Amino acid sequence: MKQLIELNVNGIAYDVIVSPEDLLVDVLRQKLGLTGTKKGCGQGDCGTCTVLIDGRRALSCLTLAIACRGKKILTIEGMEADGRLHPIQQAFIDKGAIQCGFCTPGMVMAAKALLDENPDPTVEQIKRGLSGNLCRCTGYVKIVDAVQEAARQMRAAQSQEVSR
Ligand code: FES
Ligand code: FES
Repeated sequence: MKQLIELNVNGIAYDVIVSPEDLLVDVLRQKLGLTGTKKGCGQGDCGTCTVLIDGRRALSCLTLAIACRGKKILTIEGMEADGRLHPIQQAFIDKGAIQCGFCTPGMVMAAKALLDENPDPTVEQIKRGLSGNLCRCTGYVKIVDAVQEAARQMRAAQSQEVSR
Protein backbone atom coordinates (compact mmCIF):
# COMPACT_ATOMS: atom_id res chain seq x y z
CA MET A 1 0.00 0.00 0.00
CA LYS A 2 1.29 3.46 -0.87
CA GLN A 3 2.13 5.77 1.98
CA LEU A 4 2.86 9.44 2.39
CA ILE A 5 6.22 9.82 4.08
CA GLU A 6 8.57 12.67 4.81
CA LEU A 7 12.12 12.40 3.54
CA ASN A 8 14.81 14.81 4.64
CA VAL A 9 17.14 15.29 1.69
CA ASN A 10 19.90 17.88 1.75
CA GLY A 11 18.22 19.59 4.67
CA ILE A 12 14.85 19.91 2.91
CA ALA A 13 11.80 17.99 4.13
CA TYR A 14 9.93 16.45 1.19
CA ASP A 15 6.50 14.85 1.45
CA VAL A 16 6.43 11.97 -0.97
CA ILE A 17 4.11 9.07 -1.71
CA VAL A 18 5.98 5.78 -1.91
CA SER A 19 5.24 2.09 -2.15
CA PRO A 20 6.96 -0.16 0.38
CA GLU A 21 9.22 -1.57 -2.34
CA ASP A 22 10.32 1.77 -3.79
CA LEU A 23 14.07 2.16 -3.81
CA LEU A 24 15.67 5.34 -2.57
CA VAL A 25 17.55 5.88 -5.84
CA ASP A 26 14.29 5.80 -7.82
CA VAL A 27 12.48 8.08 -5.40
CA LEU A 28 15.33 10.60 -5.45
CA ARG A 29 15.53 10.62 -9.22
CA GLN A 30 11.94 10.17 -10.31
CA LYS A 31 9.86 11.67 -7.52
CA LEU A 32 12.14 14.39 -6.17
CA GLY A 33 13.89 15.23 -9.44
CA LEU A 34 17.32 14.82 -7.83
CA THR A 35 18.96 13.15 -10.81
CA GLY A 36 22.53 13.77 -9.66
CA THR A 37 22.48 10.36 -8.00
CA LYS A 38 23.05 7.84 -10.78
CA LYS A 39 21.67 4.36 -11.16
CA GLY A 40 24.21 2.08 -12.76
CA CYS A 41 24.02 -1.62 -12.02
CA GLY A 42 21.02 -1.41 -9.70
CA GLN A 43 22.36 -4.32 -7.68
CA GLY A 44 25.01 -3.01 -5.34
CA ASP A 45 28.07 -3.53 -7.54
CA CYS A 46 29.09 -0.16 -9.00
CA GLY A 47 28.65 2.54 -6.33
CA THR A 48 27.21 5.16 -8.71
CA CYS A 49 24.12 5.47 -6.51
CA THR A 50 26.09 6.27 -3.33
CA VAL A 51 24.53 8.80 -0.97
CA LEU A 52 25.08 9.50 2.71
CA ILE A 53 22.41 8.51 5.20
CA ASP A 54 22.96 9.97 8.65
CA GLY A 55 26.55 10.60 7.58
CA ARG A 56 27.30 7.07 6.46
CA ARG A 57 27.69 5.98 2.89
CA ALA A 58 24.82 3.94 1.54
CA LEU A 59 23.91 2.42 -1.79
CA SER A 60 20.58 3.97 -2.67
CA CYS A 61 19.81 1.14 -5.10
CA LEU A 62 19.75 -1.27 -2.16
CA THR A 63 17.92 1.03 0.25
CA LEU A 64 14.17 1.22 0.61
CA ALA A 65 12.94 4.80 0.61
CA ILE A 66 10.49 4.00 3.37
CA ALA A 67 13.37 2.95 5.62
CA CYS A 68 14.80 6.47 5.38
CA ARG A 69 12.03 8.16 7.31
CA GLY A 70 13.52 10.22 10.13
CA LYS A 71 17.01 10.05 8.64
CA LYS A 72 19.15 12.69 6.98
CA ILE A 73 19.97 11.94 3.38
CA LEU A 74 22.76 13.81 1.62
CA THR A 75 23.06 13.64 -2.15
CA ILE A 76 25.45 15.28 -4.57
CA GLU A 77 23.01 18.19 -4.93
CA GLY A 78 23.53 18.98 -1.26
CA MET A 79 27.31 19.23 -1.47
CA GLU A 80 27.67 22.79 -2.68
CA ALA A 81 27.12 25.57 -0.20
CA ASP A 82 26.52 29.29 -0.78
CA GLY A 83 26.89 28.76 -4.51
CA ARG A 84 30.34 27.21 -4.11
CA LEU A 85 31.28 23.68 -4.93
CA HIS A 86 32.41 21.47 -2.10
CA PRO A 87 36.23 21.14 -2.02
CA ILE A 88 35.89 17.50 -3.12
CA GLN A 89 33.89 18.53 -6.18
CA GLN A 90 36.36 21.31 -6.95
CA ALA A 91 39.32 18.95 -6.59
CA PHE A 92 37.75 16.46 -9.02
CA ILE A 93 37.55 19.27 -11.58
CA ASP A 94 41.00 20.68 -10.86
CA LYS A 95 42.70 17.28 -11.02
CA GLY A 96 40.88 16.16 -14.17
CA ALA A 97 39.27 13.26 -12.31
CA ILE A 98 36.10 13.39 -14.39
CA GLN A 99 35.67 12.02 -17.89
CA CYS A 100 32.15 10.87 -18.72
CA GLY A 101 31.11 11.85 -15.20
CA PHE A 102 28.71 8.98 -14.61
CA CYS A 103 30.63 7.65 -11.62
CA THR A 104 31.47 11.09 -10.25
CA PRO A 105 28.53 11.79 -7.91
CA GLY A 106 28.97 8.41 -6.24
CA MET A 107 32.73 8.88 -6.03
CA VAL A 108 32.33 12.32 -4.47
CA MET A 109 29.88 11.03 -1.89
CA ALA A 110 32.11 8.06 -1.05
CA ALA A 111 35.06 10.44 -0.74
CA LYS A 112 33.06 12.66 1.60
CA ALA A 113 32.24 9.71 3.85
CA LEU A 114 35.91 8.76 3.85
CA LEU A 115 37.25 12.25 4.60
CA ASP A 116 34.65 12.92 7.28
CA GLU A 117 35.94 9.84 9.06
CA ASN A 118 39.61 10.21 8.19
CA PRO A 119 40.73 13.72 7.19
CA ASP A 120 44.26 12.64 6.28
CA PRO A 121 44.04 9.28 4.52
CA THR A 122 46.95 7.51 2.86
CA VAL A 123 46.72 6.54 -0.79
CA GLU A 124 45.95 2.99 0.29
CA GLN A 125 43.16 4.19 2.57
CA ILE A 126 41.71 6.28 -0.26
CA LYS A 127 41.79 3.28 -2.60
CA ARG A 128 40.11 1.15 0.03
CA GLY A 129 37.55 3.87 0.78
CA LEU A 130 36.58 4.10 -2.88
CA SER A 131 36.86 0.41 -3.64
CA GLY A 132 33.09 0.04 -3.90
CA ASN A 133 32.92 2.66 -6.65
CA LEU A 134 33.73 1.72 -10.21
CA CYS A 135 34.99 4.07 -12.91
CA ARG A 136 35.24 2.92 -16.51
CA CYS A 137 37.10 5.97 -17.79
CA THR A 138 39.79 7.47 -15.61
CA GLY A 139 41.97 4.60 -14.43
CA TYR A 140 41.45 5.91 -10.86
CA VAL A 141 44.83 7.70 -10.54
CA LYS A 142 43.36 11.17 -10.96
CA ILE A 143 40.48 10.31 -8.67
CA VAL A 144 42.90 9.35 -5.90
CA ASP A 145 44.87 12.58 -6.58
CA ALA A 146 41.64 14.56 -6.33
CA VAL A 147 40.72 13.03 -2.99
CA GLN A 148 44.22 13.74 -1.65
CA GLU A 149 43.95 17.33 -2.85
CA ALA A 150 40.49 17.73 -1.34
CA ALA A 151 41.78 16.35 1.95
CA ARG A 152 44.59 18.94 1.91
CA GLN A 153 42.16 21.76 1.15
CA MET A 154 39.72 20.66 3.82
CA ARG A 155 42.44 20.36 6.46
CA ALA A 156 43.75 23.81 5.55
CA ALA A 157 40.27 25.30 5.80
CA GLN A 158 39.78 23.57 9.14
CA SER A 159 43.01 24.94 10.62
CA GLN A 160 42.16 28.46 9.39
CA GLU A 161 38.80 28.09 11.10
CA VAL A 162 40.46 27.01 14.36
CA SER A 163 43.00 29.86 14.32
CA ARG A 164 40.29 32.54 13.90
S1 FES B 1 23.47 1.39 -8.94
FE1 FES B 1 23.74 1.06 -6.84
S2 FES B 1 25.60 -0.02 -6.69
FE2 FES B 1 25.27 0.17 -8.84
S1 FES C 1 34.42 9.19 -15.39
FE1 FES C 1 33.32 7.81 -16.66
S2 FES C 1 32.84 6.16 -15.33
FE2 FES C 1 34.14 7.41 -14.16
